[in-house]
Amino acid sequence: MTRTPPRVGLNFLPEGDFRAAALPLFEAGLVDALERDIDYAWGSHPRGERRDEPAWALEILDAYAADDALYGHGVWMSVMSGRWTSRQERWIAQLTDECRARRYRHVSEHFGWLSAGPFWRNTMLPAPYTPATVALGVDRLRRLADAVGCPVGLENLGMGLGPVDAQEQGAFLGEILDAVDGFLLLDVHNVWTQAHNARLDPLALLRTYPLARVRELHVSGGDWYEPAPGARPIRLDSHDGDVPGDVWPLVAEALACCPALEVVFLERRGQTLGREPDRAAYRADFLALRAAVEAAFDVGEERCA
Ligand SMILES: [Fe+2]
Repeated sequence: MTRTPPRVGLNFLPEGDFRAAALPLFEAGLVDALERDIDYAWGSHPRGERRDEPAWALEILDAYAADDALYGHGVWMSVMSGRWTSRQERWIAQLTDECRARRYRHVSEHFGWLSAGPFWRNTMLPAPYTPATVALGVDRLRRLADAVGCPVGLENLGMGLGPVDAQEQGAFLGEILDAVDGFLLLDVHNVWTQAHNARLDPLALLRTYPLARVRELHVSGGDWYEPAPGARPIRLDSHDGDVPGDVWPLVAEALACCPALEVVFLERRGQTLGREPDRAAYRADFLALRAAVEAAFDVGEERCA
């Protein structure tokens, strides 16, 4: 069976260091698609303010939207918060307005939660896997689907509370996605991060996810945190570094085993591309990702049953 290769793109940052780093890739016509933080400008954080996006950024986004090659990624909905709040209601209204103003191929959010009443974190936190939290996730994903006119999905978490939490997440996500016919945004670095931190086999952990539901991959880097001098370092899903060598076998596995895959994004956090060596490494990662996609789709054989 011949499969269509996925598009290969970048998560878009309306910032000068991103523009300088990515410009050669755009000029070479190598960026098939863009993903943007769809709520970047909305001021959704309680201490956040609305942000203006520069004209050059809006021009690029509009051009990719016109080519049906723009993808939306939410950050601030807080899908698994227990109580539905007026803040989230406003977020949904802004999402509806944005999807009317600009065309998106699909919209995703993060699995997990970052707000509970007055409590806020900038890191997505996991929820326990129970019938009640599955029902909660289904309700939230339906609200997301009702707000947009395109497919909706959830991204697997980088953070886990322990081995069982990490190993259950695929089934947890699968139950929610099945109920709403949603897609999985599989962040491969998040899988590797969870595997390292919980001392699990990364490839085995990747295979616990509902791979038939994957429409999008994230490939990124991160950093290490040493909790005490000499202690085993903890991997962080911080999107501020190069793609580690150990992540590439997971990328190859995902490319081979996700039959509905449409798009693959190299993901990077803003304001981490200020130095030319970092920009060169970022471009090298993007070219390596393109090469991995080409290699996976040149093979011409099915690796996964
Ligand atoms: Fe991601």
